[in-house]
Amino acid sequence: MSAGSPVIKDLSLPFDEAQLRQIAEDFPTPFYLYDERAIRENARRLKRAFAWNEGFQEFFAVKATPNPHILRILAEEGFGADCSSLAELVLADRAGLRGESILFSSNNTPASDYVQAKQQGAVLNLDDFTHIDFVDHQCGGLPEVLCFRYNPGPLREGNTIIGKPEEAKYGFTREQLFQGYKTCQERGVRRFGLHTMVASNELYGAYFAATAEMLFEIAVELQSSLGIRLEFVNIGGGIGIPYRPDQSPVDLERVGADIEKLFESMLRPAGLHSLRVLMENGRVITGPYGYLVTTAIHKKHTYKEYIGVDACMSNLMRPGMYGAYHHLTVMGKEHAPTDGVYDVVGSLCENNDKFAIDRPLPAIKRGDLLVIHDAGAHGHSMGFQYNGKLRSAELLLQSDGAVRLIRRAETLDDYFATLQGLE
Ligand SMILES: Cc1ncc(COP(=O)(O)O)c(C=O)c1O
Repeated sequence: MSAGSPVIKDLSLPFDEAQLRQIAEDFPTPFYLYDERAIRENARRLKRAFAWNEGFQEFFAVKATPNPHILRILAEEGFGADCSSLAELVLADRAGLRGESILFSSNNTPASDYVQAKQQGAVLNLDDFTHIDFVDHQCGGLPEVLCFRYNPGPLREGNTIIGKPEEAKYGFTREQLFQGYKTCQERGVRRFGLHTMVASNELYGAYFAATAEMLFEIAVELQSSLGIRLEFVNIGGGIGIPYRPDQSPVDLERVGADIEKLFESMLRPAGLHSLRVLMENGRVITGPYGYLVTTAIHKKHTYKEYIGVDACMSNLMRPGMYGAYHHLTVMGKEHAPTDGVYDVVGSLCENNDKFAIDRPLPAIKRGDLLVIHDAGAHGHSMGFQYNGKLRSAELLLQSDGAVRLIRRAETLDDYFATLQGLE
């Protein structure tokens, strides 16, 4: 992909209507379907883009798609896991990830989470200066390796999802960062990393090179001022995906090449050529390769035209929460004229429970299967049970074409499982 030839979003699907109807006979809608082949190909592409860095590794942000089957696929592709909670640490362990294959990038962290992360041998990425003492005195001492999350404040603009860095609750200031390394050096920590995460769903590829530049500059300064040779910099996640059909994906090869240039011009002359470049993306890894499949169950005509589907915001909250666009395909009508204009709605008692508003779509009838695109990250994982809605199943469309249930749908028994004292 070259800078001069923008590639527009790929709207093709890895299944046709007949295949999807067959799947829906075995697994009632709504369900999530992940495309293993595409996830693997995409993982390999990211690795190729950074192959110039010997120690490059992507630590998949578990929160995006917290299913051990997906983590296992990514582990087979050489990815580690970026965890932010105790449950995510255990998930990574269930996927077979051990020790420094796990980064623990948490915030406002309970002691029990740090203790668990240390037990698993994960690399701790501290979110605040005071966490140095917290880990030292309340979590059994400082580990051999530590990473700090940098918040550049007014030095960087954020974007709409993550907000402005100086208003974000995350990370150390620059001054705290240097003080933190010094303190830990004095207390015997020997290996260090540096992390930041200043963008979310960012489609402007140059943003990531600018982030790398910011961290590389600190790496050089840490060496000259404190004699600390960072082992790695983690430029975070946040690579965006084109949710809208007229958007282009980030040119990963270009991002990799731009960061390589900075590496060569800033780090190699400083003798820091063995520094590992890490990332912790979620969305760009699995987002485009997961689909929420739902059935049209009602048509309603009042002041507008509504299509009621059997999924709702509790299955995918991004449209309701952020007003996010998710492309919709009506199966079997991919090439039909879009002569209807619909609000596609779920069944929550919330008027923002809408997957699409005023969306031109082919004429939809009850029983049609609708596919909601780009639901493979921050989709199922953000589900909830408001209104007694149950989370759906997750299916894997395996590379060999077979479909496997990797998480069953919740049942009413699950819903009542935590209640106590009922007859
Ligand atoms: C610390 C951290 N790392 C990585 C990610 C993954 O972000 P994305 O899925 O946008 O790549 C997140 C997302 O919330 C995050 O908070």
